[in-house]
Amino acid sequence: MLRRLDRVKGYDAIVVGSGVIGLSCAWRLSELGRRVAVFDPSPGQGASAVGAGMLAPVTEASWHDRTLVDLNIRAAREWPAFARELEEKSSRPTGFRACGTIYAAFDSSDKTALEEMCEFQNSLGLDASWCSPTRLRALEPLLTPGVRGGIWAAGEHQIDNRLFVSALEQAAIAAGVRRVEKSVTAVEIGAGVVRGVRTVHEVCSAPLVVLAAGHAVGRIDGLPKGLVPEIRPVKGQILRLANRKGVVFASPNIRALVNGSTVYVVSRDDGGVVVGATQEEKGEDLTVDAGALYRLLRDAQRVLPGIEELEVAEFTAGLRPATRDHLPVIGATAVGGLLLALGHFRNGILLAGVTGEAVAALAESGSLPPWCEPFAPERLAEKIAV
Ligand code: GLY
Repeated sequence: MLRRLDRVKGYDAIVVGSGVIGLSCAWRLSELGRRVAVFDPSPGQGASAVGAGMLAPVTEASWHDRTLVDLNIRAAREWPAFARELEEKSSRPTGFRACGTIYAAFDSSDKTALEEMCEFQNSLGLDASWCSPTRLRALEPLLTPGVRGGIWAAGEHQIDNRLFVSALEQAAIAAGVRRVEKSVTAVEIGAGVVRGVRTVHEVCSAPLVVLAAGHAVGRIDGLPKGLVPEIRPVKGQILRLANRKGVVFASPNIRALVNGSTVYVVSRDDGGVVVGATQEEKGEDLTVDAGALYRLLRDAQRVLPGIEELEVAEFTAGLRPATRDHLPVIGATAVGGLLLALGHFRNGILLAGVTGEAVAALAESGSLPPWCEPFAPERLAEKIAV
């Protein structure tokens, strides 16, 4: 039986997905004077609420992606002003804390690996310095006396990702963004341009649609095959601990390489601690398992023995949205008015601000800012007829 669809009032722009990427795009588009709606059936439930909130252009830098390092550095540089603006416009905190990050080596092979990483970071001109165990423990006395040394990334900070989501929601609402708690089932396209989106009950028209739904973009119908690159979910299990004393546990962000495995420990102002995170290729699986919990706690405890005294508050899993080349896709598609802001993988919180800025610039001027061009969708799109 055909369901009758209501054609409801249109918008100037529709954003699909209200994680930090979608919200940032919606907020910035709204500030341009556009009537914007953001569609999400469960706002605030996705990857944005699960992460730890490290703003990590240095310690997340990897050997193959110079372009991403440049984007991450730009984003990290803009974060303090971005946080100030967001806090002012939302009247909510973001939990931005200028704390620096330690990357500690647990054994001698971990030390060799991190020394090489530090050289690589320095070769990229990143602010990273090698520290002796004594210097490292002066930066964070809770580190085990057995630590072999490590990297100090003085400019690498944190925000509280859950506060960030809530501040972005509030800023977007204050700027006039309408929130629609519905799933977009299809994108409507006609004569090579986007016409709007469809939910189970209605069709909403808009000349501009931004897909920012993470890996869930693959469930949206109506998109020509090959237009939107595949976004795969990469699972991360992450532990939250509480500290009744209500004081910051370890002042800097602590990453560690422990017998070749990585772990990070991010301490909040209220004493809470986030320990993360696994990286698993298991599709849309959100189960949490004892093995992951054991390994995260074991490795965190090896470098920060005092972590044993904290209370277990939450153990969850989230799905990072990843492209084939692990770089985000931001920009226009071959369908007029249909934009993508997807695939931010391990850097969604860091890149939310610059992504909103780039999408708004594209909507306003017709072109991406030059610093965002390497992330345009063409590099992954297949040849398609629209
Ligand atoms: N950005 C840290 C993570 O994805 O686990």
